[in-house]
Amino acid sequence: MDDLRDKYLNAIAAAEDEAALEELRVQALGKKGEISLKMRELGKMTQDERKEAGPKLNALKDEINAALAAKREALADAALDERLRAEWLDVTLPGRPRPSGSIHPVSQVTEEVTAIFADMGFSVAEGPQVESDWHNFDALNIPGHHPARAEMDTFYMHRADGDDRPPHVLRTHTSPVQIRAMELAGAPLRVICPGRVYRADYDQTHTPMFHQVEGLAIDRDISMANLKWCLEEFVKAFFEVDDVELRFRASHFPFTEPSAEVDIRCSWQGGTLKVGEGDDWLEILGSGMVHPKVLMAGNIDPAYWQGFAFGLGIDRIAMLKYGIPDLRAFFDSDLRWLRHYGFSALDVPTLRAGLSR
Ligand code: PHE
Repeated sequence: MDDLRDKYLNAIAAAEDEAALEELRVQALGKKGEISLKMRELGKMTQDERKEAGPKLNALKDEINAALAAKREALADAALDERLRAEWLDVTLPGRPRPSGSIHPVSQVTEEVTAIFADMGFSVAEGPQVESDWHNFDALNIPGHHPARAEMDTFYMHRADGDDRPPHVLRTHTSPVQIRAMELAGAPLRVICPGRVYRADYDQTHTPMFHQVEGLAIDRDISMANLKWCLEEFVKAFFEVDDVELRFRASHFPFTEPSAEVDIRCSWQGGTLKVGEGDDWLEILGSGMVHPKVLMAGNIDPAYWQGFAFGLGIDRIAMLKYGIPDLRAFFDSDLRWLRHYGFSALDVPTLRAGLSR
């Protein structure tokens, strides 16, 4: 019995892995194990012999089981130690910088414009980018033969063969949202409509997709004076200057009468643009009093209501405010450009906290 004990306890102590331990367990305690066979022999013994050998064999069996369990645990601990050593990680090493996103100047400027007009009581309206020919043109007093249709370099959508309704267009301006807002809410009305517009044009200051914000105010006695005040307040707030001079230049749009294009006084001294000083003028928007036919298209009675509208290029004023020379880069998704011109996601523009600071 002592020989058996020595044999197994030594073998268990020397076992190198779980599999070796299992093999030893089977050898000693399995069905045909050495100790199991000995236990079976108890039956052939005399009462006295059995009394002596039985407890000893049981004790040996327990001892071997305990040794197996202890060794199993020791092996597991060693394996864990080994893993902890191998998979060790220096958490004090500096992290690898990953590209992080920023707010695109177009989004930033859209938020800035929205904050300024919201403060004047305008709400935000939206319309579809794939627009009906009627909303984009006819309702805005641009009938089928009108040269403005050709001038706009419109993208036309495809109609199925045999469908001879006029094709939808990618809206060429945000003005169709005027009609949709009038249809939806009626008068009185004060909305701005920021969004994407499309024209087939591509150079340093034109991209086939760009952004506009439309403004529309309708009430009983809205006049050009209200338009002028609103735009002056807007430009001062947007360019964050106390004084700006605006120039209203007579112009023509089919959907406004009278119409005016608006320039701001600026200087290009030293190659950088300064708003509010100097002898240059820079065109920033189109505007005018809403044409009676346009009010009618929006189900508003022009005998009773009148209003002003304006349309402003968002990308254009973003270039001006933040000194960005090439419009095409706006849509290249170049991370280096975005890192340079982008804004922090946490600096939401508000009039209280500052627009761009
Ligand atoms: N829709 C015109 C454009 O895209 C701008 C505009 C809007 C002019 C509203 C007058 C009134 O050029």
